[in-house]
Amino acid sequence: MAQALHHPPQSYSFTARTLHWTIAAIVLVMIPVGIVIANNLGGPLQTPLYNLHRSFGILLIPLVIWRIVYRLTHTPPPLPDHVPAIQRLAAESTHGLLYVLLIVQPLVGWIATSAYPAQFWFFGLFPVPLIWPENRDFSNLMFGVHLWLGLAMAALLCAHIGGALYHLLIRKDGVFQRMTG
Ligand code: HEM
Ligand code: HEM
Repeated sequence: MAQALHHPPQSYSFTARTLHWTIAAIVLVMIPVGIVIANNLGGPLQTPLYNLHRSFGILLIPLVIWRIVYRLTHTPPPLPDHVPAIQRLAAESTHGLLYVLLIVQPLVGWIATSAYPAQFWFFGLFPVPLIWPENRDFSNLMFGVHLWLGLAMAALLCAHIGGALYHLLIRKDGVFQRMTG
């Protein structure tokens, strides 16, 4: 570990770090706001929270596509050698599943909203096209899927953030700082 500290691992690029933290900030707000609106806990803020949840969810789609294309064309620097194979596998599987859910979850929310059908505006600027024909039963089914995928994301994020904090506070090996520069 001391050796690792003398030779801190290389960081993710500025673009990768900016995309990671922008998307992370949005997703970490989407989950609690989703739970608030679905359970009608927003009081007078219920309608604005609905609009914010859907608008930020739509905004995520191009951001995540940009991030995945960038990731596929820019391999990040390798993890330091001391990280055991089992932890690499755990981290890589978590990251892979998060990428899948980052694409699927907003699409499921958009499809469910379209099939309901509920017209909504992108940050009050323009109406977002509905991408599924009206079908209330299918919409309810998709909102059920949206709930379970949201819970799966929350569970993966607990593991992900726990792993990041383990490197920051216990291992102190510079792996956390790969994402802070
Ligand atoms: C407090 C919140 C978070 C912290 C502290 C954090 C920390 C980190 C760190 C340190 C890494 C680099 C791991 C490495 O060196 O291999 C990383 C990578 C990653 N994070 Fe996070 N993260 C957070 C939130 C999120 C959220 C909300 C998401 C997605 C919804 C996310 C998705 C990812 C993905 C997909 C990677 C893999 C990057 C790649 O190699 O392609 N993170 N995160
Ligand atoms: C990564 C992006 C997203 C995440 C993490 C997310 C997460 C969640 C969560 C956890 C819930 C609560 C589910 C429940 O308790 O039943 C929820 C509800 C909801 N989401 Fe999302 N969501 C995302 C994107 C979207 C998008 C793009 C839309 C629509 C365009 C959307 C529309 C909704 C609606 C309308 C509800 C309320 C459902 C109801 O009233 O039962 N979401 N979301």
